[in-house]
Amino acid sequence: MQLQLSTWQEVERYLEGSTGIVIPIGSAEQHGPNGLIGTDAICPEVIARSLGEAAGALIAPTISVGIAQHHLAFAGSMCLRPSTLIALMRDYVVSLSRHGFDRFYFLNGHGGNIATANAAFAEIHSDVSMLVREAPRPIRCRLANWWDGKGVKKLQAELYGDDEGQHATCSEVSVTQYAYPQAIKRVNFDGRAPEYSGIHDADDYRRRYPDGRIGSLPSLSTPEHGKRFHDAAVADLAENYRNFLEAV
Ligand code: NI
Repeated sequence: MQLQLSTWQEVERYLEGSTGIVIPIGSAEQHGPNGLIGTDAICPEVIARSLGEAAGALIAPTISVGIAQHHLAFAGSMCLRPSTLIALMRDYVVSLSRHGFDRFYFLNGHGGNIATANAAFAEIHSDVSMLVREAPRPIRCRLANWWDGKGVKKLQAELYGDDEGQHATCSEVSVTQYAYPQAIKRVNFDGRAPEYSGIHDADDYRRRYPDGRIGSLPSLSTPEHGKRFHDAAVADLAENYRNFLEAV
């Protein structure tokens, strides 16, 4: 069930049975020669839609731009400052909590968002602790990375081994190919990308990783793999989401 495709009456009925909501969060940044700029938002968004069906969860509008200053030397990449993302996440939670939502499950597609998302949770908890607003039930937030479950990890190792890499990974490119087969790019690669050697500013990133990838060989990606990752992630996350709803 998607918030954007629902009426207010449907949301009101949903709230009688559940106070949880899934919020996909990603980034708009280069993903190498065959990876889409929207990769980090597309992956959690498509996985969230299926998770919504599997776990009976409502899915909020995706936060499609995130923390990506180090990608700005590549055309098309966009970035929020950490303070902007914190404010955005806080406003998502505060506005939804007014209706009775109190379990906020941020489904993340971008490692660069993790530190800032945790800072946003600290801001949100500060609001409650400092009695800006009294919640009927304590607000709980969780950040879940779509790739962190056992099923996805196993598949990454099985299909790609070390070629999975750290950025523009084979698995995430596969998921976008499954989601948008019409946008698949055919590109010849010289080989695996440079290994991870640190991330600093945008120009430094482009010097270290000239085509944008880190350690990956996403010519191995296929839409069939993408479906397998999608299915594995939904299974991993459905269990994690249910545990989150039941947590005190
Ligand atoms: Ni990515």
